Amino acid sequence: MKKITLLVLFLGCMINSYSQQPSSTKAERLSLDNGWKFHLGDIPFPVIKGHNNSYNNAKAARASGAASPTFDDKEWRTLNLPHDWAVEMPFDSTENLSQGYRKRGFGWYRRYFKVDTSDRGKNIELQFDGIATHCTVWVNGTVIHRNWCGYTSFYVDITPLIKYGDEINNIAIRVNAEAQEGWWYEGAGIYRHTWLVKRSPVHIITDGLYANPIKKADGTWEIPTEITLANSGKEDSEIEVEVGLLDKKGNLICKNQTTTQVEVFGQAIAKLNLPVSNPMLWSTDEPTLYKVYAKVKQNGVVIDETITSCGFRTMRFDKDTGFYLNDKPMKIKGVCNHQDHAGVGVAVPSSIWEFRLRKLKEMGVNAYRCAHNPPAREFLEACDSIGIMVMDENRLFNSSPEYISQLQWLIRRDRNHPSVIMWSVFNEEPMQGTEVGYEMVRKMTAEVKKLDNTRPVTAAMNGGLFAPINVSQAVDVVGFNYQEWAYDDFRKANRDMCLTSSEDVSGTMVRGEYVTDADKRLLDSYDTQHPSWGTTHRKSWKDINERPWLAGCFIWTGFDYRGEPTPYTWPTASSNFGIMDLCGFPKMAFYLHQAQWIQDRPIIHLVPHWNWPVDSIGKEIKVMVLSNADKVKLLLNGKTIGEQIADKYEMNTWLVPYAPGKLEAIGYKQGKEVSRTKVETTGNPSQLNLIADRSALNGDGRDAMPITVEVLDTKGRHVPTANIPIEFEISGPGRIIGLGNGNPNSHEPEKGTKRSLFNGLAQVIIQSDENSSGEIILTGKSSNVKPFTIKIKVNKSEQIPSVATVFPDLVLDKWLASPVFLSKPDATIEIADNDMNSWEAIRPGQPTEMKDNGYIMYRTNFIPYSNQQGKEGNIVIKKLTGKAQIWLDSELIATKNEDESKDLDIPFKPKSQKQTLNIIIEASKGDKVGLGGMVTVSD
Ligand code: GAL
Repeated sequence: MKKITLLVLFLGCMINSYSQQPSSTKAERLSLDNGWKFHLGDIPFPVIKGHNNSYNNAKAARASGAASPTFDDKEWRTLNLPHDWAVEMPFDSTENLSQGYRKRGFGWYRRYFKVDTSDRGKNIELQFDGIATHCTVWVNGTVIHRNWCGYTSFYVDITPLIKYGDEINNIAIRVNAEAQEGWWYEGAGIYRHTWLVKRSPVHIITDGLYANPIKKADGTWEIPTEITLANSGKEDSEIEVEVGLLDKKGNLICKNQTTTQVEVFGQAIAKLNLPVSNPMLWSTDEPTLYKVYAKVKQNGVVIDETITSCGFRTMRFDKDTGFYLNDKPMKIKGVCNHQDHAGVGVAVPSSIWEFRLRKLKEMGVNAYRCAHNPPAREFLEACDSIGIMVMDENRLFNSSPEYISQLQWLIRRDRNHPSVIMWSVFNEEPMQGTEVGYEMVRKMTAEVKKLDNTRPVTAAMNGGLFAPINVSQAVDVVGFNYQEWAYDDFRKANRDMCLTSSEDVSGTMVRGEYVTDADKRLLDSYDTQHPSWGTTHRKSWKDINERPWLAGCFIWTGFDYRGEPTPYTWPTASSNFGIMDLCGFPKMAFYLHQAQWIQDRPIIHLVPHWNWPVDSIGKEIKVMVLSNADKVKLLLNGKTIGEQIADKYEMNTWLVPYAPGKLEAIGYKQGKEVSRTKVETTGNPSQLNLIADRSALNGDGRDAMPITVEVLDTKGRHVPTANIPIEFEISGPGRIIGLGNGNPNSHEPEKGTKRSLFNGLAQVIIQSDENSSGEIILTGKSSNVKPFTIKIKVNKSEQIPSVATVFPDLVLDKWLASPVFLSKPDATIEIADNDMNSWEAIRPGQPTEMKDNGYIMYRTNFIPYSNQQGKEGNIVIKKLTGKAQIWLDSELIATKNEDESKDLDIPFKPKSQKQTLNIIIEASKGDKVGLGGMVTVSD
């Protein structure tokens, strides 16, 4: 039974100079990303037959097959996480189109680690940020968790299972990626980070610091913090809890403290208020962040601490006038997105998240819907600091306990993020217009409110809106998916409800294409293409922008994603809905939204390119100018084609008889030229060009950046129609982790060193090596054009503290110890299959005290690892005490004549079948004999 102690203290806030900031935490949060063994495919468990096997199969620490700590994984691939194996698979027309025609299947991961004896007594937790899709996790042969959601993190307290010192701990994970939770590409494997956290026995639990600033009616602010504490120690503990608010420079603004008791294996929640006056606000323009720390002290010593970012902002939805951030009206200009990127699949490095969010911001986006699942932790951190608001979405619509616990995890993890402005409990559920759907949402909403009553709950509905009982009645904000036709009728019938579009548009275009050609699976980029349920970007925005009671839009989608190829299927493998392609290269819709959404600077862009074939001369080409000017003028080779009053929704279009040269557009505001752009007919590809996204990488083994690849003509102009193959060479402290070009029809591998340009562009993603510095040299080559080399600095940087990797020998740690024999036993003596009691299961490390004079025998069975079989091997027995004979099957392989403890290193020829090792020790009553240390089989 968990005991909850509630302590509510509202102490005055003390303004102090805070000379000594808390070091980030007393807990050690160590990365477990490196040094995993991976096997693609399933490994069936051995069939359990016979009493002995059945008996042992049901015991703790006795998992069999690949879940067993001693399973032979020597031949498995060694890799670092995050890892998505689906993106490594070839495209295959027989696989599921929804998942991007990639095989998923099963996979196994294994990792070994040691824990120092000085960590004994600490609380040790294993954390997985995300595994696609279902998985089972064992630690040291005991199953510790079964995970039923590919987007939910899980944290498991493994304190009791840990082995210390030289002993090796093992994590084994069976991933079932046959399980699907979406109709989009979900990736496969451990695609987010993994951690091992060591904390004091009395500690703040993971996600246990709640600090979400609230503005009070009198205009002042407070942070009603909650600190959830647990105790895995052996004594009830009286502790002090301190919380403090730090500004972005680390100055202490205020702090507060209390004392509480945490009972053994109980939990306590300390509630402390932090009153704050005049904080700097968080907004999408100025995303000012503060930090709240919590420290746990025992007898004046800090035993645990944690820190979280937070931001001061208000937000509300108004039924008549839409959304407000900090009491200022703001139309939500949002995009929905899945979580895969070119080259890396769903294993997206933090810096690539930042890159994607920067691109969205550049487009004028202020909100992001995590469709249709919880995002990575570091994604939300980036939204907080870049200033993008988030609709944070639950994955599975289910109100039963397992799924409620997934929802609770989401709220607990994400409720400190100022960027998160609403919780979405579902997307398009067939039960949305029924009593059952309503009741499920009513329950889920209530569960959300228990953990966070500051943000509205929404649900993305694509029907059922007018049913007598429907989900709109159980949420705070009604989300419409593609229900333009219903906006006005629904509003008329429900004047008290707050409304937003939760999904709209689903327009399709292929970057750089201007002619729709079903045979070639190509779609024009003039915003003319959309499926029957969608609409154009232009109409959708007009519908939403002209209705003040609609909070805003969430366009489907900001980026292309793999899977859900629409409208074409094979060979098209990714969606075409993106405003940007899979690499983040803008399509025409990017500039269209810039023109519609950005008001504080002039925007002007022209499509299409001006590289048409000779037989197009004289033929009419559709030209669009995307601008936020009042008036636009179009010129071809210096001659005016026409002037038009700018249409802020539809933009401006001309049909221009093609002539090679220069097409130019000029934007005017109040009669004055404010913007100008051009497209030019270029020459043939002459020289490659590589453009780095940033000037340097951090040498931490995680930092990554996209490099844009293009080809220029002899005059240095980008050639937008080039589709030539490129090969890359890389040297220095980094590697290529993925390649892409945004072509939805391309089946080129996303790993390796080769990629073609698609309509003038490709992307190479490079990542630094761990603990590195220097210069990465990347060269792109293609026949008939000049190669190009780019140098990227790698700066020495702080390393992410990690758990050291170990790749152990075969450890023989499951032994049976015989009763005392009065006369010397035969080494081949049999133990009856159903005798579970006369011999005792023991682990090396603890010698046995002889109950009588005579002989004791220790027995274990093993199959040498494949890399050992048929070669010279050694059986290494540490700290063997007593006079002993060591028998391998029926052969005496070593004799030890001394009583005292000694290490033995016995050469032998490992076989490929099961071998039985017997140690017979002769000793007197009361002697402490036997296996004082580890026994291993080494190469
Ligand atoms: C919606 C759905 C999205 C995506 C989209 C494609 O109905 O919510 O996940 O499938 O359609 O247009």
